[in-house]
Amino acid sequence: MRIAMIGSGYVGLVSGACLADFGHEVTCVDSNAEKIAALKRNEIPIYEPGLDQLVKDNATAARMFFSTDLAAAVGNSDVVFIAVGTPSRRGDGHADLSYVYAVAREVALALKGFTVVATKSTVPLGTGDEVERIIREINPAADVAVVSNPEFLREGSAIGDFKKPDRIVIGLSDDRARAVMTEVYRPLYLNQAPLLFTARRSAELIKYAANAFLALKISFINEIADLCEVTGVDVQEVSRGIGLDNRIGSKFLHAGPGYGGSCFPKDSLALVKTAQDLGSPLRLVETTVAINDQRKRGMARKVIAACGGNVRGKTVAILGLTFKPNTDDMREAPSLSIIQALQDQGAIVRAYDPAGMAAARSLLNDVHFSENAYDAAAGAHALVVVTEWDAFRALDFNRLGKAMATRILVDLRNVYRSQDVAGLGFAYFSIGRPASPLEPKQAPK
Ligand code: UDX
Ligand code: UDX
Repeated sequence: MRIAMIGSGYVGLVSGACLADFGHEVTCVDSNAEKIAALKRNEIPIYEPGLDQLVKDNATAARMFFSTDLAAAVGNSDVVFIAVGTPSRRGDGHADLSYVYAVAREVALALKGFTVVATKSTVPLGTGDEVERIIREINPAADVAVVSNPEFLREGSAIGDFKKPDRIVIGLSDDRARAVMTEVYRPLYLNQAPLLFTARRSAELIKYAANAFLALKISFINEIADLCEVTGVDVQEVSRGIGLDNRIGSKFLHAGPGYGGSCFPKDSLALVKTAQDLGSPLRLVETTVAINDQRKRGMARKVIAACGGNVRGKTVAILGLTFKPNTDDMREAPSLSIIQALQDQGAIVRAYDPAGMAAARSLLNDVHFSENAYDAAAGAHALVVVTEWDAFRALDFNRLGKAMATRILVDLRNVYRSQDVAGLGFAYFSIGRPASPLEPKQAPK
């Protein structure tokens, strides 16, 4: 099939490269000319494991092209995917659909022959109806079918998630569109990935409901972790014990500093707003959002308590800035709230992240960006693991201890256990588990 992918961000670029790898001819379009120019030079603007090779291979094989000319790409395509950003709208938390609608208007004018227009960006329930109305209003003669095809890609594992999905959801009502979309995903279909055809609005709600449920599941275990901390229980034992029930499942039961990223925060908030507007509020999701917002800020209090209740003039080393490992994405990262709150209490912050430093520099002030974990720990009164990068999973605590002013480790991702560091004189604090026996004041130099 000939495919136009409008929007070459995290989702558009991964989806375009994977569809090209299936053998389709894909043109990735973006309004950002620098981004397109970089892609033409095989420079990938985002950090996604395996993406640079996949793009290079498919561009070399002349299955993947890059352009700012949306009209030409659409005119030559059987399927047009809309994968532009749908960020939270300033102030009210609704999804900002201005980019989606702007693209719909441009697409309407460029359609030639029967074309399927598929929204891949996460868009609120009913957006497909509006996109179809816009297209038919601008180009009444257009032979078009507007479908919903949401993605379920996780950053850092997006290519794997695209190629081995649990399901492909396609919301439509047009038989010709069904045949086209079946053809688009045939390689996956052959891999037995279920192709789930639903009504268009169902597909839109499935995406939001999935993200909101996953966000809720994380907030659930995060609250259980708080209960564990006041009862001396180990939350990891609780996670494992409930997760073995296949009705619950063990995924997304890792207690942490709260969820971040470009999706969970934005999508749960947008769903809450949609539901409120429709007079059917989702109180569980509203509470999930509130729990998560408070939690990210609350993590700084845990660090301050670990430092004896005061960080004024003290140095705190932050390991990990991105919202999760294997990405450079800083959107809604817990580190942003944690660092701001610590600085508000007078802490001096040093930080290191394997991939997020460039993005973080424009978001943080007065932070010393370090070369590596050991450089970050120099003179630090506390070391805080915020993102569980592999680089932080086997730290040399002997070496760290010698570099630090006091040996306090706050592990917000439960990467370690207190026995891993107690022998080296570290006071150890983590999430949902008893603090280490050492008191901060006893932590030897
Ligand atoms: C996007 C949505 O933000 C998200 O809600 C959905 O889950 C998946 O698609 P992402 O790919 O991360 O996620 O968006 P972003 O990284 O912002 O990339 C969007 C791209 O579209 C950018 O490269 C932007 O330049 C481009 N764009 C935006 C256009 O080409 N045209 C426009 O009119 C607006
Ligand atoms: C998510 C959804 O998983 C994906 O299906 C959707 O398409 C986009 O949003 P993403 O946000 O990229 O993907 O990352 P994910 O791995 O889901 O993590 C989201 C956040 O939850 C991260 O901040 C992560 O640290 C946090 N998380 C995840 C936890 O705190 N605990 C967990 O057990 C899992």
